[in-house]
Amino acid sequence: MSVRRGVILAAGFGTRFLPATKAIPKEMLPLLDRPVVQHIVEEAAAAGVRELVMVISPGKEALAQHFARSPELEQALQARGDGPKLAELERIAGLARIAFVYQEGRMGTGHALLQARWLLDGAPFALFYADDVVVADPPAIGQLVETHDRRGGPVLGLVEVEAEEVSRYGVIDGDEVGNDEFLVRSTVEKPETHEAPSRLAIIGRMVLTPDIFPALEETPPGRAGEIWLTDGLARVCGRRPVYGRRLSGRWLDTGNPAGLLEAGLWLASRDPGMSARLQRYLRALS
Ligand code: G1P
Repeated sequence: MSVRRGVILAAGFGTRFLPATKAIPKEMLPLLDRPVVQHIVEEAAAAGVRELVMVISPGKEALAQHFARSPELEQALQARGDGPKLAELERIAGLARIAFVYQEGRMGTGHALLQARWLLDGAPFALFYADDVVVADPPAIGQLVETHDRRGGPVLGLVEVEAEEVSRYGVIDGDEVGNDEFLVRSTVEKPETHEAPSRLAIIGRMVLTPDIFPALEETPPGRAGEIWLTDGLARVCGRRPVYGRRLSGRWLDTGNPAGLLEAGLWLASRDPGMSARLQRYLRALS
């Protein structure tokens, strides 16, 4: 894989999940049997992106603890002879090398990405939002790297959403230039429904090139006074070809309570150990 480094944006306050997220990062909320953020790190690792920078904010140190070794816990499991759990903990700690950086203040996704700049090596990198889970084979980020390797330049992960949903997402304006591939003319963050240039939402999977950083530095605060990655991307679109790829697989938007619940149900309904019990329970409910 040509892209080895990635950035995970996980600095948000999780206000949509309050009070659940008053003391716990929203990325640590469980999706089925593991925290949401672990699904993201596993996807990155599966695609060969094993050097990660996670942008967090003060108080979200549990994210670092989750991916660190925990000698006491490991000793306790060892003493109990619980080999499978021990192996699972070691697997999690070995998924990737992760550096953590802080974003101070709520200044937007673009500002969050700028905090990771000094830990990147000037090569194209993967970008993940910590609340977008994609169940796909090959992994979503791998699909984008494939397009990047073939066409060059930045590639945005896209999902087609219903017309009434476009105002919740960043959206592209562009032309289809190949199977599920688009040349992106521009990007707009959370447009009004009637002004949206398409129904193709930009989700939290991208391959970006270092020229995003000067573009972000020039980007003034936009919607809600924050510096949006989507606005920085719009500038890059004016300077070089930017591509989008409609992802194959299932996107689970865990960024709000209903979405997280739906995502859990979707995964459970496909989990051999859980689906029968879940179906019985759902039948009894209706
Ligand atoms: C963020 C981004 C938006 C993107 C979305 C995908 O919005 O700002 O461009 O389409 O994630 O989940 P949020 O969900 O934080 O409102």
